[in-house]
Amino acid sequence: MPGTSSAPRPDNPALIDRFGRVAADLRVSLTDRCNLRCTYCMPAEGLDWMPGGEMLDEDELGRLIRIAVETLGITNVRFTGGEPTLRKGIEKIIAATAALSPRPRISMTTNGIGLVRRAKSLVDAGLDRINVSLDTLRPERFQEITRRDRLSDVLDGLAAARDAGLTPVKVNAVLLPGINDDEAASLLRYCVDHGYHLRFIEQMPLDPQHGWKRTQMITAERILELLREEFELTESPSPRGAAPAERWLVDGGPAEVGVIASVTRPFCGDCDRTRLTADGALRSCLFSQSETDLRAPLRAGADDAEIAELWRATMWAKLAGHQINDAGFAQPLRPMSAIGG
Ligand code: 5AD
Ligand code: SF4
Repeated sequence: MPGTSSAPRPDNPALIDRFGRVAADLRVSLTDRCNLRCTYCMPAEGLDWMPGGEMLDEDELGRLIRIAVETLGITNVRFTGGEPTLRKGIEKIIAATAALSPRPRISMTTNGIGLVRRAKSLVDAGLDRINVSLDTLRPERFQEITRRDRLSDVLDGLAAARDAGLTPVKVNAVLLPGINDDEAASLLRYCVDHGYHLRFIEQMPLDPQHGWKRTQMITAERILELLREEFELTESPSPRGAAPAERWLVDGGPAEVGVIASVTRPFCGDCDRTRLTADGALRSCLFSQSETDLRAPLRAGADDAEIAELWRATMWAKLAGHQINDAGFAQPLRPMSAIGG
C-alpha cells in the first residue's frame, strides 16, 4: 500500500513519491533578501543574509532548472525570494528558462515594489504570470506591517503588471488578528474593481520570531464569514486540481476570490511542488526538516544524471503532509524568506 511500504522506488523519470503524487511545479528562491520587513516574516533588522558565494550563480541555476524541465517533467517554474526582483540578472534567468523545451509556464511571487520599473522587461524575458503580496490598502497600516512606506509603489506595480500583460494579476493577502482582519472585504472590493484575482492565505507557522499561534490565526472559515458581510459568495464551478485555493464566485461572478486554507484544510494530498533554495538546497515541502544539498555535487562535477537521481530520491522521501496540526510539530529551521512562497 502506498505510504506504508518501504518498497524500492519504481523506475520512473518523473518526481514521484510514495503517496502517488507527481511534482511538476518547481519553486525557485532567487535570494533570501527583501526590501520590506513584514512583521510576520522578518525582524526589523532583517536576517543574516546568505553570503554571495553560497548562492547558486546564473549558470548553476540554469543547469538545475534545465534538468528539472527536460529530465524530471517540471512544467511550471515559479521564481520567489525573499524578493526575487532584487536578484541581479533575473531577466536572464527567466529568459534561459523560457528557452527550454518543452517551455514551462513561468511565474513569480513578488512584493510588487519593483514592478513599475521592471514589469515590461520581465514580460519581454518570458514571464507569464505574477502573484503580488498585499495585506492592506491603508498607507499607515502598510508601514506598520511591512515597516516601509511603500504602499503606493505596490499599487502602481500591480497596475504596471496588468498593463504589461501579466494577467490575470493575482494578489496574495495574509490576515493578521487585530492588525488587518477588518480589511478582508475592502481588499476584495479593490481587487474586483481593478480586475485582480485576490487570494487569502491562512497564516502558517513560518515566522522567525516563532510568534504564530494556532488559536489566534484567522481561519479560512472566518475569512469567508468576513467577506459574506459584504458579498455573496458561491462555490466556483471550475475544477481545483492541484491548485491550493478554494475559489468562490463574488456576487454571482465572473469575479472570484480564493481562500488558501493551508492550516485548517491542508491540501498536501494534492501537492505537486518541489522547491530549490537560493543556496542550492532541495526541499520536498515548505515544512521539511531535511534538505538535499545540490550545490556541493554540482560544484564537485556531478553530471546531469546524478543530479536528477538526487532530486528523484529527495521527492520519493517526501512526507504525506506538513503536520502543522500535530502535537509534535516543529517549524522548519529556515524562515519563509529563505525558502520561498
Ligand atoms: N503564512 C502564510 N503566508 C505567508 N507569506 C509569508 N509568510 C507567510 C506565512 N507565515 C506569504 C507572503 C507572500 C507569499 C510569499 O507568502 O505574504 O504573499
Ligand atoms: Fe519580504 Fe515577502 Fe517577507 Fe514581506 S513576506 S518581508 S515582502 S519576503
